[in-house]
Amino acid sequence: MESPAPAKPPTPDLRFIAQGASAMLYDRGDGHVIKIFRNSVSDEMIAREVAVSVHANTVGLPTAPALGRHDGEEGRAIVYPYLEGPTLMAWLRRHPVRAGWALEQMADLHRRISEAPAGQLRSLKQVLETDISYGPAPMAIKQSAIAYLRTLPDAPILTHGDFHLGNIMMTDAGLKVIDWSKAAAGHPAADAVRSEMLMRFGEGPDDAITNLWRDWAARHLARCYLTSSTFSASDMSMWRPVVALAWLRARQAGRAKSFHRYLNKAMAQVNISPILI
Ligand SMILES: Nc1ncnc2c1ncn2[C@@H]1O[C@H](COP(=O)(O)OP(=O)(O)O)[C@@H](O)[C@H]1O
Ligand SMILES: [Mg+2]
Repeated sequence: MESPAPAKPPTPDLRFIAQGASAMLYDRGDGHVIKIFRNSVSDEMIAREVAVSVHANTVGLPTAPALGRHDGEEGRAIVYPYLEGPTLMAWLRRHPVRAGWALEQMADLHRRISEAPAGQLRSLKQVLETDISYGPAPMAIKQSAIAYLRTLPDAPILTHGDFHLGNIMMTDAGLKVIDWSKAAAGHPAADAVRSEMLMRFGEGPDDAITNLWRDWAARHLARCYLTSSTFSASDMSMWRPVVALAWLRARQAGRAKSFHRYLNKAMAQVNISPILI
């Protein structure tokens, strides 16, 4: 998620914009930004981010399509068109009373993604299976979750994989979605669940008041998805246990108790035993 902390640019002609979990963003001053990746990010992820941003733009989604790679002394980088405007998270801090409207726009953007073809992307079910098997859950739980996951339907639909308030920008031309490195081909209800989890338990402030807001926002978002999308609440319940279990591999420690309750409840609904903590 972005941070306002300034960072010294690698060359003086660049102006620091933000830092995310995987990269630093700089304004080149010519209508383009450069996203310089941390060493820990794989080449495969960078290549996927380029390809999917271009694909998403081609199928008519509002995004900034990669203009090309720029690998130099400063590291591995992607050049994007500059998007004028704050992230949805920064915008919400300034316009808290318009949160309901903004979340409706966010859900609508997600609905548009869930109507797009995935192209040549990797399978989300495969990604979930890998994350579950390399994750920290007890072996017996991993085995039953993977057996259950294999029974779920595949879909050739574009899923973003990291659809949260820091990956959406509020521009004069409406919302734009960025940061496609976790995209895959899968069922849109799985992506909606992922978004619900990011809203409730993802990075960012997790004091009591913010958590109340986060839980409300996740419920509002889900309500909007369910009125505007092709999937149902039971589709989301069907995917929740495996999307949550897969997330254990990568998720940061915040709200651990609430997240474990959420995970165990989701697994209980499909008869997978709880993880004891
Ligand atoms: N095309 C862009 N134009 C302007 N700012 C951008 C652009 N892309 C990203 N940003 C800013 O940089 C931040 C981090 O970018 P992001 O692609 O999400 O990186 P990460 O993969 O590290 O999360 C965003 O939250 C946003 O503030
Ligand atoms: Mg991001």
